[in-house]
Amino acid sequence: MIEIEHLTKTFKVLNRKEGLKGAISDLFSRDYKYVTAVNDVSIHINKGEIIGYVGPNGAGKSTTIKMMTGILQPSSGKIIIDGRNPYDNRNEHLKDIGVVFGQRSQLWWSLPVRESFKVLKEIYMVEDAVYQENLKLFERLVDLESLYGKPVRQMSLGQRMLCEVVAAFLHSPSVVFLDEPTIGLDVAVKDSIRNLIKKLNEEKGTTIILTSHDTKDIETLCQRVAIIDKGTIIFDNSIEHLKEMFGKYRTIRLKLNTDIVTYETAANMLSEKFGQNAIKINGEDFSIEVNEKVVPVKQVLAFIMDALSFDDMNMEDVGLEEVIKKIYEGGAVHVKAV
Ligand SMILES: Nc1ncnc2c1ncn2[C@@H]1O[C@H](COP(=O)(O)OP(=O)(O)O)[C@@H](O)[C@H]1O
Ligand SMILES: [Mg+2]
Repeated sequence: MIEIEHLTKTFKVLNRKEGLKGAISDLFSRDYKYVTAVNDVSIHINKGEIIGYVGPNGAGKSTTIKMMTGILQPSSGKIIIDGRNPYDNRNEHLKDIGVVFGQRSQLWWSLPVRESFKVLKEIYMVEDAVYQENLKLFERLVDLESLYGKPVRQMSLGQRMLCEVVAAFLHSPSVVFLDEPTIGLDVAVKDSIRNLIKKLNEEKGTTIILTSHDTKDIETLCQRVAIIDKGTIIFDNSIEHLKEMFGKYRTIRLKLNTDIVTYETAANMLSEKFGQNAIKINGEDFSIEVNEKVVPVKQVLAFIMDALSFDDMNMEDVGLEEVIKKIYEGGAVHVKAV
């Protein structure tokens, strides 16, 4: 159980001046400014939950996670994880959490993974029985056998990330933090990482805090998502609710028969008929985003069939990605025909 109440972190940073002169004057200056990275965040996370923590760059995700892991001291507010304050009880706390920071490694570069795991076992003082049991579980979930003998530096990024993720679970922590675990990976590897995370959560009941820019990670793994923007939580609920709140959007993609009707004409006809609240047309691939709160997609389709000549058409739900983008944009649906 994680309880966060009114958590705030403010950094004091030097107000840098430009150029060489500025750099020299910075050496002597006491001109500081304050950056509030996390601003009055309150959130409760249940045991065993996988929660997605998303937000644009610089929103405060990593800073929140650093405070939850005990690396950073909050400026104010409180965090209690399994009855402990992470910063004040750092040593005990670290034994009870696992961390993967997308681009940094907890494995030893030149050691075979097998040896890295042994070192981690010692650091975390994992009992033999627990260690063996976990290794068995990991082997069932990933083909570790083929990786065990390999030094980390000889691995592909994907292989390394699989090892990083299982390494974070090696000491059976109650909470695991995954900060961008799929960054830079190709689609197939992302799938295996997601699969692995899901299975580990199911088998071990571990609470998982996941940040990712890839909303597919969030969509496949989390029931709940918290969105942070400029240090403040602006949404915290189920993904279902998120999609509903921002209306139901469908996208129609059209390949017009341009001998008969130009894209510009079609765009004008559609905009005139349905208005800017109902549809948004993207000129690049001629996709039509329909806001079903305003007009049923059926009506738009009927109009297209009736009025426009086209070679091909397909339709898709608007995914989490677009919904989140709308939230960053301030929740307003900007409608503009191109
Ligand atoms: N150690 C630090 N010193 C000063 N400012 C920082 C520090 N760490 C983060 N920040 C600032 O705090 C804000 C939030 O950063 P961060 O938590 O890393 O965002 P995110 O992980 O969501 O991209 C940013 O404006 C960032 O520049
Ligand atoms: Mg970050």
